[in-house]
Amino acid sequence: MSERHPAVFLDRDGTLISDVGNLSRPENIRLFPDTVSALDKLQKKYLLFVITNQSGIARGEITLDQANTVNASLAEILSKEGIKIQEWYVCPHGRTDNCECMKPRPGFVLQAAEDFGLDLSRSFMIGDHPHDVMTANDLGVFGLYVLTGHGTRHLPELPGGKYVFHGIGEAAGWILHHPSPLNDIQSQILRGAREIREGKTVAFPTETVYGLGADAFNPRAVELIYSIKNRPRNNPLIVHICDPAQVELLSGRVPLPAKKLMKAYWPGPLTVVLPKKREVPAEVTAGSDTVAVRMPDHPIALELIRQAGTPIAAPSANAFGCTSPTTALHVFEQLGARCGTIIDGGACRVGVESTVITFAGPVPEILRPGGLSAEEIRDVIGSVIIRGEKPSGIPQSPGLLPSHYAPETPLRVLDHIPLPEEVSADTGVLLLSDPEFFYPGPVEVLGGEGDLKEAAVNLYRAIRRLDSLGLRLIVTHKFPDRGLGTAINDRLKKASGGRV
Ligand code: TXA
Ligand code: MG
Repeated sequence: MSERHPAVFLDRDGTLISDVGNLSRPENIRLFPDTVSALDKLQKKYLLFVITNQSGIARGEITLDQANTVNASLAEILSKEGIKIQEWYVCPHGRTDNCECMKPRPGFVLQAAEDFGLDLSRSFMIGDHPHDVMTANDLGVFGLYVLTGHGTRHLPELPGGKYVFHGIGEAAGWILHHPSPLNDIQSQILRGAREIREGKTVAFPTETVYGLGADAFNPRAVELIYSIKNRPRNNPLIVHICDPAQVELLSGRVPLPAKKLMKAYWPGPLTVVLPKKREVPAEVTAGSDTVAVRMPDHPIALELIRQAGTPIAAPSANAFGCTSPTTALHVFEQLGARCGTIIDGGACRVGVESTVITFAGPVPEILRPGGLSAEEIRDVIGSVIIRGEKPSGIPQSPGLLPSHYAPETPLRVLDHIPLPEEVSADTGVLLLSDPEFFYPGPVEVLGGEGDLKEAAVNLYRAIRRLDSLGLRLIVTHKFPDRGLGTAINDRLKKASGGRV
């Protein structure tokens, strides 16, 4: 028998091309900028297949002929770029039709495996809908989730522990570096855990941003974090644990409201500041008698802590004051080889840092707004105060410094959506929702229809992209001050160095 081939199955709308809904005319095909280069790299090692759900056919909104015409036209566009798709599969059914081809049913994948002699155990599926990843799961194919198309909107439906990427380019790069992903990641975690025990630093993904970790009980290892990041020694670190019971290693006294929050939101983007135990090194807490603790919601982070056998102290894995990393590449661009092993778990699905809340004072107080909203906190413990900036004195959180999370390009926050006449071609525009105007310069939209969770996932990546274009200025506007909007406004304000 001849050797079986590995394959990559690709969703079409939202993964390869913009999802315009019921695409019926070839002239409306819009390839993503990284689609061609991604497919070109992938096809050197993988047979490529497209599987597309066109449920608009069942609803009578487009015809099968129209869907096939679009596919033929896309095939021709790709073929001119030297890219060959082996087969195009179209499911014309609706969600309730109970057909065999509709994702997450495996019909088309099994057919392709049969027709082309595929090795599904070495194959991948990329899509912007949780069904794409679930189909893959059922078949032992590795599923990658992209945030393009409807990806950010459907993210809440994606089961935990799945690999998320900002787009097809990132996903393709990851596949090529992780040809047998489960083994590759396991061995990276094994190595990372050994290095943590040996007193080295390891960069790893969490659901919020990438962290630069070291053994929380090894002062010399913790000291490395400060020097690699060039971080002021008076900024304490968050200690990451893999089981709520590990809090006992760090704090002897956990107030009831803190317990309630931990129960409700761990693992998750919640950091609680508690009275520390004597055993916690002063290097971790910057001399303070409190310690910040968090249980991250990411399978790689949790497994790394478990295998290291010790809580891991970790700030965000960026140079001090700069934009936080939400991919492994961002970490590498900022810290390079200095940070040691970088475990690449794709993009972070929350995108802004955790909410830091202290229980050291008489009432619970949010020191840094973040991935868990004040509303969500109030739901569980009733009232909470939100710390404003202190006009003077020692800041209690680097998140409270006036300048932080900053790009190199000056960033300005307006109290209204920028008007076209306020913007020149050398100015980047960062918006929450799809623009109402035509701007002369580059534009980044964070939330499509204004969803603040979507906006948070895209925030740092978008700032990075605009920052990489050599612009004179980036302008943005104040976001609604609710949900994750509070954390986003906080980061935008700090990225602007306080200029509003
Ligand atoms: O989402 C996150 O929190 C990420 C990931 C890696 O977990 N980590 C992170 O760490 O953002 P870092 O170092 O960039 O921010 C830590 C924040 C700072 O605002 C710091 O002042 C605060 O937590 N913090 C840490 N220990 C504290 C303490 N004992 N008292 C008050 N604030 C503390
Ligand atoms: Mg799609």
